[in-house]
Amino acid sequence: MNMNPTVMLQEAERILKLNDKGVYTVPTHGLYPFQWNWDSCLTALGQFHFDPNRAWVELETLVAHQWPDGMVPHIVFHQHDEGYFPGPGVWKTGRPVPTSGITQPAVLGLVLEQLYERSADQSLVRGRCEALVYAAARWHDWFYRCRDPEGTGLVALLHPWESGRDNSCDWDAALAAVPVDGIEPYVRKDITHVDPSERPTQFEYDRYVALVQCYRQMGWDNERLHDAAPFRVVDPGFNAILIHSEFALARVAQALGHDDVAERLFARAQRCVAQMEQLWNPALGQYSCLDRRSGCLVNSASIGGLLPLLVLPQGHERAHALARRIQDWLAIAPFGVCSMDPNDSRFDGRRYWRGPSWLVVNYLLIKGLRQGGMGAVAKQVLKASMACIEQSGCSEYYHPMTGEALGGGTFTWTAAMVVEFLTVQNQGS
Ligand code: DGY
Repeated sequence: MNMNPTVMLQEAERILKLNDKGVYTVPTHGLYPFQWNWDSCLTALGQFHFDPNRAWVELETLVAHQWPDGMVPHIVFHQHDEGYFPGPGVWKTGRPVPTSGITQPAVLGLVLEQLYERSADQSLVRGRCEALVYAAARWHDWFYRCRDPEGTGLVALLHPWESGRDNSCDWDAALAAVPVDGIEPYVRKDITHVDPSERPTQFEYDRYVALVQCYRQMGWDNERLHDAAPFRVVDPGFNAILIHSEFALARVAQALGHDDVAERLFARAQRCVAQMEQLWNPALGQYSCLDRRSGCLVNSASIGGLLPLLVLPQGHERAHALARRIQDWLAIAPFGVCSMDPNDSRFDGRRYWRGPSWLVVNYLLIKGLRQGGMGAVAKQVLKASMACIEQSGCSEYYHPMTGEALGGGTFTWTAAMVVEFLTVQNQGS
């Protein structure tokens, strides 16, 4: 495709507008026709460059659908659309505007801090920002209350979709143990939009659906779901994002003069960072998931286990080990950091989260590397990410060895990352 930066920025703006539904943005038309939680938050970073007000609205719309218990759901079904499965009739969560019944990575806090810091006149956004900080803090409280009822400092996922990395090898063993007897017949829609070789398998979908049905039968009662869940996995990537966002929220709360909130969040984030050590997997030389049902670490070296870069302090030996792994992976697969160790026999460069590279995760890694003082490696990741765009435009994900565009096209959050990379990250801030 070979685009220069000006053309890339124009293309990214075109895609952000193409997928804009006024007060929320769809990830891409057809495949994902509603509002997705972490897509939407990361999209706001790109929107802010062209229209700051629109970026705030994106976050406000998402948070307007927060559940009374504090959960911010992973999908808000704003409009009827037959092109997606599972739709509101499967979830049956009983919300006034239908939503799914699970959540997604908590990037809201870290995005909020970026928007606040980048606002030319912070006094003008003070009220909006305060409301969002309170909503996000309530969501974080929900995580630690409902997904860590024993107070270990690490929250569990009850569905692979909550991780955002749906079919990562990380879930293989835990997902295989989910009973599927009694699942209602269903028809997948995703494979009418995208080549099935780039999507999760039928085996995985059956279990995704079984989990939805199981939690639906329990009335989506988050006070009970954790202990009864047939899938309960602690993911280092998910926890690192949550803790990173918690620190970000604490800083914004402090800047706004809400010292009580700030102190509470700082204290919790600090306690939880220390608990990440439980997820260090010496056999893999990186972090890995913990199956909370069996109590065992999962031997799967995925990108989730590199994301703790987001919470490790400068000079930490584990941070250097993770940066070396990134460099090793890039030497084999140069188009972005791949989602699974390319040396693993399960690596599949085409199939969704089992190998392809995703620019949003690359963005988070760049953030973590910079925070850890490893700017040179961050630059390498930035260059590898831009190589995907230069070659294939704004796709959902990319083959990490060839840069081939995979999954959905004209993809919103990828466009947002292009804006972020070209306007902010290149300047090293
Ligand atoms: C999907 O439908 O593929 C989504 O990732 C679930 O959130």
